[in-house]
Amino acid sequence: GAPVKADIGKLEPGQMVVVEWRGKPVYVLRRTQKQIEELATIAKFLKDPDSNTADQPAYIEGITRAIRPEYLVLVGLCTHLGCAPKHRPEVGVPDLGGAAWVGGFFCPCHGSRFDLSGRVYSGSPASTNLVVPPYSYEGDNVLVIG
Ligand code: FES
Repeated sequence: GAPVKADIGKLEPGQMVVVEWRGKPVYVLRRTQKQIEELATIAKFLKDPDSNTADQPAYIEGITRAIRPEYLVLVGLCTHLGCAPKHRPEVGVPDLGGAAWVGGFFCPCHGSRFDLSGRVYSGSPASTNLVVPPYSYEGDNVLVIG
C-alpha cells in the first residue's frame, strides 16, 4: 500500500490522533516533556523496557521508541489479540497499576497495559510491546507512515 501522510503541526502536547494505515489504526501522540522524562522511571515494571523483542524498524531505538522523542507513532492494536488499546494519560490510576502508572495505553479486552512508549507492563496478557510502523518526516509537520 501507499504511504499515508498526516499533518502533525497542530497537535498539542498530550494530544493524540489516529491515522489509518493499511487498514490499521496508527496512534500518533505528542508527548509532554514530563511524559518523556517519566519513561526512564518505570523500567522495573515492564516486561521488555529496552524493546529487545519488539516489532519496530531498525532506526527506532532507545526508550522513547521514536525518531523525534515528542512524537510517539504506534500501531494501535494490542499485541495480545488485537483489540485497540485506549489512551489513558492520567497518572496513578489504581486499577492501572497505581503508583507505577504514569499514563499509557490500556487494552479493555483482557487488561494489557502499555506505557507512553507502547512498552508492555508486567502482569499483562500481552507479552510484546506495541508495534512501531515504518515512518519518516517530510519537513517539520508532515509525518509519513509506511
Ligand atoms: Fe489486549 Fe487481550 S487483546 S489484552
